[in-house]
Order: sequence, then C-alpha cells, then structure tokens
Amino acid sequence: MSATGFERRLMPSDIQAMKGGAPVVCLTAYTTPMARLMDDHVDLVLVGDSVGMVVHGLPSTIGVTMEMMILHGQAVGRGLKRALMVIDMPFGSYEESPAQAFRNAARLMAETGAGAVKLEGGQHMAETIRFLVQRGIPVMAHIGLTPQSVNTLGGYKVQGRGDDRARLIADAQAVADAGAFSVVLEKVPASLADEITAAIAIPTVGIGASAGCDGQVLVVDDMLGLFTAFKPKFVKRFGNLGEEAEAAVAAYAAEVRARSFPAPEHVFADEVKK
Ligand code: KIV
Repeated sequence: MSATGFERRLMPSDIQAMKGGAPVVCLTAYTTPMARLMDDHVDLVLVGDSVGMVVHGLPSTIGVTMEMMILHGQAVGRGLKRALMVIDMPFGSYEESPAQAFRNAARLMAETGAGAVKLEGGQHMAETIRFLVQRGIPVMAHIGLTPQSVNTLGGYKVQGRGDDRARLIADAQAVADAGAFSVVLEKVPASLADEITAAIAIPTVGIGASAGCDGQVLVVDDMLGLFTAFKPKFVKRFGNLGEEAEAAVAAYAAEVRARSFPAPEHVFADEVKK
C-alpha cells in the first residue's frame, strides 16, 4: 500500500464490482488541472463529448471530432493517478460497423491512455459492444437521452415515458448482455431508472435519472456553475465559478485602468537589496 492508498488507476472491473455497493462517483473533465483536482474524489472521470458544447462553444455534440477527443483525453490523462478514465466515442466514429468502432476505439485508448470508451445506443449497438469487449475494449454504454441523436429524437426530451418504457428496459438488458461494464442512464423517469438498476447486473450511472442508480455523473462545468448558457433541470450547481471568474476579470480590468495593478510588490527593482 502506498502512502495515499492509491497505487494504480481503477479499472472497469473495479467499477463493475461496485454494483449494489457504494455509489460510483463520476464527473466529466477536459483539462489536466481539472482532472488533477478531482482525482482523489471521484471513481471515474469521463472525457465527455460534451467538451464540444461547454469548452468549444458548439451548439451540440454532433461536431465533435476524434482529434478533439484525443487532445482532451491526453490532457485529462496527465492529471489522473487513481480514477478510471473513460473517453467518449464521437458521433460518426462507431455507428457504421463494429470494425469502424474497433479501429477508432483502439486509437482513442492507445493515444490517450483511457481505460475504456463510452458510446451511445441500446439494442442497435449491442453487436458493436460485444465486438469491442471480445477484442479487449471495455465499453460503458449510454442509453435514454443520447445527445448525439438529438436530430432524430426531436430535442433533448425525457426518454422512456409511457409506451417507450419497455424499449428502455430492453436497451439496458441488451447492453448488459453484450458485455458493457456499466451504463449511463440519461434523462429517464426515476421509477424506470430504479427498475433498470434492479434488473441488470452492471452498475447504472444516472444523469437526470434517480438517486437509486448505482452511481451519478454530471458535466463538471455545469456543477461548478462555469457553463451558464442554460441549466438542465437535473443539474445542481455546487459552485458559482462562472460568476466568481467574471467578477475577478472585472476587478482586474478596473485595476489596470486605474493603474493600481501592478502594485510595487508585483514589479522588480534594478538591483537586489543585500
Ligand atoms: O458527454 C458527456 O458529458 C456525457 C455525460 C453527460 C454522461 O455523455
């Protein structure tokens, strides 16, 4: 055992073993400093394709590329010692065929050091999940609201209500049977999330789902109050860093204009005093 108690990054099998036990704590990260500060507190860090919206200002995750994911994955990897790093497969990098998915998943893992990939889709992605897992690529599935399908879903709506409930249960069962080590449930009714959590053998990680899920995930910029363009109902702001940052920038601008910054303690003398 090392001084900190952490000798290696958690593995997908460690997360899977948390089923029904202590909640799996997950957050997204896109940069080294953010990964570093969350590493001792979370079990799983997701390099989410939400990076396109919260960091790059894209209107959706559709425009996120492999190159963006690799660059941010490498940055996050430099900040982690303990938590499992999972990286999102961007839209268009895996849907065509299992072989296409393998090629891009292998590249994401090899070039970033991620321990697993995440991809969106239920029953229709089960064959691909099985193909990847059988070839050494651990997969976190993502069902319910799948943002990469926003154009076919007709918006960011709650999924699995009414007649759609059975489809979601079948999706969860299909990705678990295909070998996913865990599954994100996004924006589904709480009672459905609880039913799925009880029915499948892998951990469910909720976002807009239920406190009864085996774990929770949030987009870090949302929960820190850094991303303020809009706030989904399922987001709780645990901080107001956006407001703090703007106040700090305003204070800096005022001091520069008043010539009160830099102050004497921030500048250098001709000679060093003996
Ligand atoms: O891209 C992302 O951040 C995600 C989480 C919201 C689960 O997929």
